[in-house]
Amino acid sequence: MEKSSVTPWEVSGEVDYDKVVREFGVQKIDDSLLKRFEKIAGDSHFMLRREIYFAHRDLGWVLDQYEKGNKFFLYTGRGPSGKMHIGHLMPFIFAKWLQETFDVELWIQFTDDEKFLFKQDMTLEEVHKNMLDNMIDVIALGFDHKKTHFLVDTQHAGIMYPQAIKVAKKLTFSMIKSSFGLDESSNIGSIFYTSMQAVPAFLPSVLKNKKMPCLIPHAIDQDPHFRLTRDILPKLGYPKPASVQSSFLPPLHGAKGKMSSSKQESAIFLTDSPKEVEHKIRKYAFSGGRDTLEEHRKHGGNPDVDVAYQYLKFMFEEDDSKLQKIHRKYKSGEMTSGELKQIAIDKINEFLKEHQKNRKSAEKQIDKFIYKI
Ligand code: TYM
Repeated sequence: MEKSSVTPWEVSGEVDYDKVVREFGVQKIDDSLLKRFEKIAGDSHFMLRREIYFAHRDLGWVLDQYEKGNKFFLYTGRGPSGKMHIGHLMPFIFAKWLQETFDVELWIQFTDDEKFLFKQDMTLEEVHKNMLDNMIDVIALGFDHKKTHFLVDTQHAGIMYPQAIKVAKKLTFSMIKSSFGLDESSNIGSIFYTSMQAVPAFLPSVLKNKKMPCLIPHAIDQDPHFRLTRDILPKLGYPKPASVQSSFLPPLHGAKGKMSSSKQESAIFLTDSPKEVEHKIRKYAFSGGRDTLEEHRKHGGNPDVDVAYQYLKFMFEEDDSKLQKIHRKYKSGEMTSGELKQIAIDKINEFLKEHQKNRKSAEKQIDKFIYKI
């Protein structure tokens, strides 16, 4: 297997999630925690049931607090490095469900500073252009602006920077080096950056002058930031933020990696046309089917490595019984790769049609979501 690495800025190779769990020190979401979660939520989400959100830190504690009447707030974010792809929406879709299920506030950080500092060739103007476009994608999911607040690192610096320096004072360069692989040649802004990503995990507590639990949904790549945040916040008098981590929506070329916008041919973008989606899935989506139709009918396909199947499982077929049926038919050879790809193409295009329609009205709403200082 190709050597893999998972950091907030690069995920390469095939990800071994058990290894990541061990190395990062997160906990797997076990059956009893899942049952308890679903009981308290009074509902269940397919991303939890299918172990797509598979790991956590202190999720049980957040539930304890919730049961005692101490509601948590949600925090997630986006680094505006370019157009968003379908995988980027996963934490937002899940956060929206959590927000509606538990009736809580959601804080969304847009890290314009991060992308400016880490992308050597990107100007701040370009980052801001991306950010507006990304905000439209997030709003298009249908968030309630009364409970959802956007923080922009440079724009909200007045309230964020005083908190960020409190975090920064407790972090040393050697902690950053070992957590993120930065070194003496890294620019000093990038070394400071994690202190900004820590801030929304306790800013609502600062603003409301009340210590509130925080729950952060994200894919596992962002965990190194929150591992450090969890070490520091108790030293500042705030609770450690809890988190739930998902695995990655895979790239078109293989079921165990991470869809990433830096590899254009590996991603489906939210602005792709139906034709582009069809072309990408047909041409690039790795298939778990057999070499010949005869062999496929005889031995069946492998849904575990089939990217079209994985897209249905991760995002686009919410109905468990329909997904199971596809799984069974594909595995037995009754369904061909071409047929499976067609189902994925139709489902993704149906989703994108609605999303692209919603984008049109979302643009006018940006101002309502920006947190007013
Ligand atoms: P960014 O913009 O790289 O990614 C945004 C969110 O999408 C997740 N993600 C994915 N999830 C599933 N499958 C994929 N292929 C995939 N690719 C990315 C990321 O884990 C992330 O949750 N530094 C952050 C921005 C940020 C943030 C946060 C993210 C600031 N505060 C709090 C999560 C929580 C970033 O650049 O994310």
